[in-house]
Amino acid sequence: MPRMTLTRLTEMRAQGEQIVMVTAYDYPGARAAERAGVDMVLVGDSGAQTVLGHESTVGVTVDEMLVLAQAVRRGTETALVVCDVPFGSTEVSDAQAVETAIRFAKEAGADAVKIEGGGQARLSRVRAIVAAGIPVVGHIGLTPQTATALGGMRAQGRSVASAERLVDEALAVQDAGAFCIVIEAVPAEITAVLRSVLDVPLIGIGAGPADGQVLVLHDLLGVTEGKTAKFVKQYGTIGDDTVAAITAYASEVRSAAFPGGEHRYAARADAVDAARDRAGVLAAHRDNAR
Ligand code: KIV
Repeated sequence: MPRMTLTRLTEMRAQGEQIVMVTAYDYPGARAAERAGVDMVLVGDSGAQTVLGHESTVGVTVDEMLVLAQAVRRGTETALVVCDVPFGSTEVSDAQAVETAIRFAKEAGADAVKIEGGGQARLSRVRAIVAAGIPVVGHIGLTPQTATALGGMRAQGRSVASAERLVDEALAVQDAGAFCIVIEAVPAEITAVLRSVLDVPLIGIGAGPADGQVLVLHDLLGVTEGKTAKFVKQYGTIGDDTVAAITAYASEVRSAAFPGGEHRYAARADAVDAARDRAGVLAAHRDNAR
């Protein structure tokens, strides 16, 4: 399969072909996504929660995200790799945002960065990063980095003011230069309106039918513990399977059923004799020294 390009994504949208995006945070996750033939892999800052155990995405740093992104890049051949720029790494100025985006491009080989929000400052950051030559994916609707300011992790676009703001932000993010926009936790009817006015692909998560979909890998695999968002569909039971496998291993270690004969290396008789002789000599020395 040829490597995914921005042009190909635009073509897919024009031809009505759905774009598949999934998050990944490490080499095996990226390999699995690649082998499954997804179009885009997102090194989401959701990794703060899924693999680093934070309560929210806010605490993750650029250096931590870079380690995840580098592993994902090594596991990816054809899918487009998009990296989230974490909270605090673009808020100060356009210059800070460009420096952060350049780190993801140079140090992790990111094809694009994703930046949350559609307010004036965010648009300025999108313009600056695009002007520096790094493609940008926008992210509107529920933006977890600033969820507190949005009133919590709740659906957006449900009031008149919020729906109107989404239309304004979607068009403004596109005009600022984003080649693609993620839309999170928005009623399907609002997504349909946005699709009708946008030229760039709209990738939904909890936003109904769009030009493509994205899900968090650990949610779809069934690794995430406890309640997931309403929009998550679980396609696997990897969390339970992993616990069952480790429980079986622990039980076999405790009962000495593992390792079995098939897990052992064959010994040469002369090596075993030599080891015994040497152990005997050393034990005798130790006894004499006491
Ligand atoms: O960080 C992430 O995983 C995301 C997706 C939810 C779109 O931003």
